Amino acid sequence: MTQTKKIAVIAGDGIGPEVVAEAEKIMKRTEEVFGYSFTTEHGLFGGIAIDQKGTPLPEETLSMCKSADAVLLGAVGGPKWDNNPKELRPETGLLGIRKELGLFSNLRPAVVFDCLKDASTLKPEVLKGTDLMVVRELTGGIYFGEKFRRESASGEEAVDTCTYSTEEVERIVRQAFEIAQKRRKKLASVDKANVLETSRLWRETVNRIAPEYPDVELEHVLVDNCAMQLLRRPSSFDVIVTENMFGDILSDEAAMLTGSIGMLASASLGAGAYGLYEPVHGSAPDIAGQGLANPIATILSVALMYRLTFGYEEGAVAIERAVAEVLDAGHRTSDIAADKSKALSTAQMGDLIAAAIRK
Ligand code: IPM
Ligand code: MN
Repeated sequence: MTQTKKIAVIAGDGIGPEVVAEAEKIMKRTEEVFGYSFTTEHGLFGGIAIDQKGTPLPEETLSMCKSADAVLLGAVGGPKWDNNPKELRPETGLLGIRKELGLFSNLRPAVVFDCLKDASTLKPEVLKGTDLMVVRELTGGIYFGEKFRRESASGEEAVDTCTYSTEEVERIVRQAFEIAQKRRKKLASVDKANVLETSRLWRETVNRIAPEYPDVELEHVLVDNCAMQLLRRPSSFDVIVTENMFGDILSDEAAMLTGSIGMLASASLGAGAYGLYEPVHGSAPDIAGQGLANPIATILSVALMYRLTFGYEEGAVAIERAVAEVLDAGHRTSDIAADKSKALSTAQMGDLIAAAIRK
C-alpha cells in the first residue's frame, strides 16, 4: 500500500464540476488498479465562491490547498461575474492562488493525437508529429506589476508595469532546460529582446546559464516570429519557455494545433513536487450542466499530477494509454465528434476511460 495523498479539489464554475467529477472517477479507478490511496477535500473557488463567500479565493480554500499534496482545479469564470470590479472577479482568484501557492511555472503540453489530426484547422501534414510543451512563467511580469490610472494633459491614462528579476527568470528557465533534457533536448526561449528591457534581461539570463546544459540545443525566438513559426513548423518545437503574457497567448495558439482545447492538460509547479493541475480550457458557460463537456483535459491533468507530484509513472502512463485507446476506438465527445448525433456525454467518456485503465 502506498501512502495516502491528500488532494484539494476546487471544481469552480461552468463545466468545472462536471469534468472534475470524471477526473475523480479516474483517480478512484487507479486506487483499485494500482493500490494508490487518495483523500479528497472540496473547496469553493471562483464565481461560486464570490456568490457564497463574497471573494473568489476564500481563506479556507487557500489553507485547504496549502495543506494538501496537490490541487485539482476545474475552471473558473462566467458572464455573471464579467462586469464585477477586479476584487470580485474569478480571474483575480486564479492569479491569487498561483501567487499564494508559489506556482511560478506553468507547463502546457500540446500533443497532436494521430486519430484527431483532421480536427485541427491546419493541414495534417504540417501537424504530423507535433509534440511540444509550453513552459510559461506564471507569477511575474505584466500580470502582477503595478497597475493604475492617472490623469494626463490629454485626459485619462492607464498604466500596467512589467517587471522581471534575474532570479525569477533564472528559476523558470532552469526548469525548462531540465524538462528539455528529459524530452528531445531542444529549447526555444521566446522574448521580445529587440524592444523590451525585461526581454533583454531574460535573454542575457538564458545565455548565461545555457552552458550548464550543453546537451540542450537552444534557440532564441522573438515572440511575433514564434507565433508565426508555430503555424509554419509546429513539429520542430520541443520545449518553449517564455514570460507570463507571451506564454498565455502562445499556449492558446499551441492548443489549437491539436484541434480541441478540450484535450489539453496543464500543471503549475513551484520549486518542489507540489503542484496544481487543471485543464487548459475555461468554464464554457454556454455548455455547462448539459453533460456535453469533454473531460479528457482534466483526466490528462490527473496523469500529469501522478507523474510530476507523486512520481506515479505507471498510473500516469495507464491513464494516457486509456485515453488514446478510447479515442482510437472512435469514441468522441461533441467538441471533437464529426457526427455530433453520435457524441458521448461527459460521464460516458469518463466511464470508458476508467474501464480502459489497467496495469
Ligand atoms: C489562463 C487564463 C488566465 C490567464 C486568465 C483567466 C486570468 O487565460 O490560465 O491562461 O491569463 O492566465
Ligand atoms: Mn490563457
